[in-house]
Amino acid sequence: MSELRKQINDALQFLLTKTQLSPTVGIILGTGLGGLVKEIQIETVIDYSDIPHFPLSTVESHKGKLIFGKLGGKNIVAMQGRFHYYEGYSMQQVTFPIRVMKFLGVKSLLISNAAGGMNPLFVKGDIMLITDHINLLGDNPLIGHNDDELGPRFPDMTEPYTRELISLAETVALDLKIRLQKGVFVAVSGPNLETRAEYRFLRGIGADVVGMSTVPEVIVAVHQSMRVLGFSIMTDECFPDALKPVSLQEVIAVANGAEPKLTSIMKEVVARMQDYV
Ligand code: HPA
Repeated sequence: MSELRKQINDALQFLLTKTQLSPTVGIILGTGLGGLVKEIQIETVIDYSDIPHFPLSTVESHKGKLIFGKLGGKNIVAMQGRFHYYEGYSMQQVTFPIRVMKFLGVKSLLISNAAGGMNPLFVKGDIMLITDHINLLGDNPLIGHNDDELGPRFPDMTEPYTRELISLAETVALDLKIRLQKGVFVAVSGPNLETRAEYRFLRGIGADVVGMSTVPEVIVAVHQSMRVLGFSIMTDECFPDALKPVSLQEVIAVANGAEPKLTSIMKEVVARMQDYV
């Protein structure tokens, strides 16, 4: 058994002593999006610090808790607080919770993040459905030994974001009369925000929004054959010729403002989602 498998097993054995619930849906709550938690009928809350091999969250806007409960009638597990590469964690640490989710029985992963918008048709506060991504992190969670029991050496990336879940989210947004953009997410390491030249470059290579998370978790989810649905909240307008300084407070304030819209979409998507793979 690989070292990674042993670590997954340690975390799994611990979690199984804390909860009876078998989640089929996993949710990662990004910056300013913790409010979805209020919608969850909570069964168990576990601090990351208690879970074997889980890293600790260091960003002040993130809480480090794993929440088991029900949402939209389904058993779910939600990460309140995620790990970022810029905090100094390895890619394997950043994605460890996704490994564990798979062994808990999670089939579909819903991911949210705060991102800077570069598509000039988008406005601050918009929600964007991620249809594809570009990995500019300069690293990859699958580098190193591949445990073939977890997934293939060369995972296919033709459809990292599940088409069927994208259509479902679009239908839900229409029904709820919430405007939903669609586009490409590019991941950079951060922690600094981008220069004008970098935003111009990122837009030029085909990205609509830029953020510092999500892509590692999606790569690992795809490696493990999980279905993925990703949302970005556009927290700042990154138009290179009209760029204004932004603060973390503003980013969080905009994310909090858009949160009720994203929360209702996510809740309804989970409710209508089929459990099959
Ligand atoms: N760049 C990178 N990450 C971000 C941004 C940005 O402009 N806004 C929110 N997260």
